[in-house]
Amino acid sequence: LVFTAALILLAYLIGSVPFAVVVSKIMGLQDPRSYGSKNPGATNVLRTGNKTAAALTLLGDAAKGWFAIWLAEQLAPGIAPAALAAVALAAFVGHLYPIFLGFKGGKGVATALGVLMAIQPWLAVATAATWLIIAVFFRYSSLASLVAAFFAPVYYVFGSGLAWHAQPPMTVTLVVIGLLLFYRHRANITRLIQGTESRIGSGKKK
Ligand code: G3P
Repeated sequence: LVFTAALILLAYLIGSVPFAVVVSKIMGLQDPRSYGSKNPGATNVLRTGNKTAAALTLLGDAAKGWFAIWLAEQLAPGIAPAALAAVALAAFVGHLYPIFLGFKGGKGVATALGVLMAIQPWLAVATAATWLIIAVFFRYSSLASLVAAFFAPVYYVFGSGLAWHAQPPMTVTLVVIGLLLFYRHRANITRLIQGTESRIGSGKKK
């Protein structure tokens, strides 16, 4: 049990690494918490116009979600489904409430994608495709994220028996991730309803 707790803590610490802030600092860009939506995430970094920085943020934040789960599986072969589900949730929560940023983190979209990738690559592909379709048609990153977050657990449960078998604890994790993701997007949801949300490629907003 102590070992499982250590794995969960480790996943939280890995999830806490804020790539938007790290990448921006290394590349000499402004801190993403100072402009646009003020969110330390790939979408907001893109508002600087630096696509490389945004892509690296997306990659880093997704990779840490994947890595946290992969590492737990290496350190604890045959880890119990409930423990792995807790590890996955911890990595995601680390991004939202990172110890390295005074617990003020991002919205979790990229990290959730990395978590899905570790659970089952096809699940990540289907969810990313959902994000892309909405993003292409509506040009709102937040709306695409919300729709994708809704469908991820749906795909996980209803796709069970295809390339994977849904584990109840992981289903719970994916639902909780979806709920937290909606909660973190509440300002975006208000802006979407008011019609003031910034579109992808429209530059900075207040
Ligand atoms: O990944 C976060 C995205 O869904 C919204 O980001 O910066 O527009 O609030 P932002």
